[in-house]
Amino acid sequence: MALSLLIAIFVSILAWSHFRRRRRNLPPGPYPFPIIGNILQLGRNPHRSLTHLSKTYGPLMSLKLGSIHTVVVSSPESARLVLQEHDKAFSGRTIPAAAEVHGFDKISVGLIPAGERWRKLRKLCREQMFSARRLDAGAGARREKVQRLVDYLRECSVSGRAVDLGQAAFVTTFNLLSATFFSVDLIEFESDATQQLKETVEGVTKILGSPNVADFFPFLKRLDPQRIKKRSEFYFGRLLGVLGGIIDERLETRSMERKNDFLAALFDLMDGSEYDLSYKDIQHLFLDLFLGGSDTTQSTVEWAMTELLANPVKMSNAKNELRRVIGENNQVEESDISRLPYLQALIKEALRLHPPGPFLIPRRADREVEIGGYIIPQHSQIFINAWAISRDSSIWPNPTSFEPERFLNSNIGFKGQDFELIPFGSGRRMCPGLSLAGRMLSLMLGSMLHNFEWEMEGGVTPDTTEEFGLALHKAVPLKAIPLYCN
Ligand code: HEM
Repeated sequence: MALSLLIAIFVSILAWSHFRRRRRNLPPGPYPFPIIGNILQLGRNPHRSLTHLSKTYGPLMSLKLGSIHTVVVSSPESARLVLQEHDKAFSGRTIPAAAEVHGFDKISVGLIPAGERWRKLRKLCREQMFSARRLDAGAGARREKVQRLVDYLRECSVSGRAVDLGQAAFVTTFNLLSATFFSVDLIEFESDATQQLKETVEGVTKILGSPNVADFFPFLKRLDPQRIKKRSEFYFGRLLGVLGGIIDERLETRSMERKNDFLAALFDLMDGSEYDLSYKDIQHLFLDLFLGGSDTTQSTVEWAMTELLANPVKMSNAKNELRRVIGENNQVEESDISRLPYLQALIKEALRLHPPGPFLIPRRADREVEIGGYIIPQHSQIFINAWAISRDSSIWPNPTSFEPERFLNSNIGFKGQDFELIPFGSGRRMCPGLSLAGRMLSLMLGSMLHNFEWEMEGGVTPDTTEEFGLALHKAVPLKAIPLYCN
């Protein structure tokens, strides 16, 4: 009797949710279970599970993740509608509970609403940091950091040691960013401090990317049932401490020594400028830039090298181009990048197959919007499944194979205009670090390929298993032996 009653209640809830969905004309989607909705359907690899589901329900799909209505976008045209045509309405962010620590959610340029304060911070980054003039001014400092990478790889080559390429790319990315921002080296190859910083950054990105029951049921945020916020507080605190130390040191020597970097520009804007910058704003802005720029760039280098080691012909195509354009004894410079179309194509192809943010950074509907005849309710969370779009066989022939050649005679770029390739997003919240990322990726990959031959440790085939998080990492680190050739 009790069982029949339970079944009757269950069926009525399903029927009611189906009726409500039909009545409100939400995008179609799998039936949500009572209370938990579709959480179980996410699985360990949500980007793959949702790609699979979208084949049944279409490019605009509704899910209920706990109490959060979520819309998954899986085609270039739907992505265009969300990111370009209705960009303003979808410019909000859903804030994970893990980011509600140290006031980060109230200050971060990546999380605050796209209002007046956000516009000022974006302008600040655009003019003081990512303009071509500013980036050109930092090219010498970045060349030095890449030379350190080449020296380190050469040492490994002499001793026949395998290199953890993810680790080497992490150290170099961190030092390229810190050279660009505040003219210092933050970390060394293979030191304990490096390992600790890497673990801290990975800790933050893992926590931000891992499923948290409090995000599905916001009333649980205060209870923090998985202790995620507690751990997040620790990792964020550690990173803020490192950044605070650098700012403090520079504040002390500011009057004695003038530097020409982003931090110096920010100090100048601290007092009485239109930006109204406080110490905390600067500290959190750097946190944003390191979090946005390190894991993404590092994982792209590691994936690109993984694909090249699995495809030796593509590797020698890239090396031949470098030899022809740069010459045997010269180093790759930022000014060479535009003359290296194969290198550019292989970076695009790595970002197509392995977009670091498979759902970009989730957006939020700030108001109700109608798209393609469907209603997207206000406050819906929006996942743009860039991973699904870039592996869609109706857009990309042989979508799972690594073929940089597909971009050689194509105008498709990743600057947010071609919605079949959107690893950096599009619209007003598109990644502000795109041009710096392009320079860093070209420099690191160009130098690794131009100066060295590469062999997998133990002669094995590179593993391509993914690990889902805020950035889509390799589950097994790539270890390869460099053989110095230039
Ligand atoms: C936002 C990707 C490198 C800083 C984003 C977004 C994506 C992304 C997908 C969200 C875009 C959207 O919502 O439409 C990447 C990739 C990178 C990279 C694939 C490298 C391969 C960088 C670098 C920096 C950076 C080097 C800075 C040094 C940021 C910031 C935001 C952002 C601050 C938040 C922007 C906002 O919400 O207004 N990035 N990024 N990123 N990225 Fe990047």
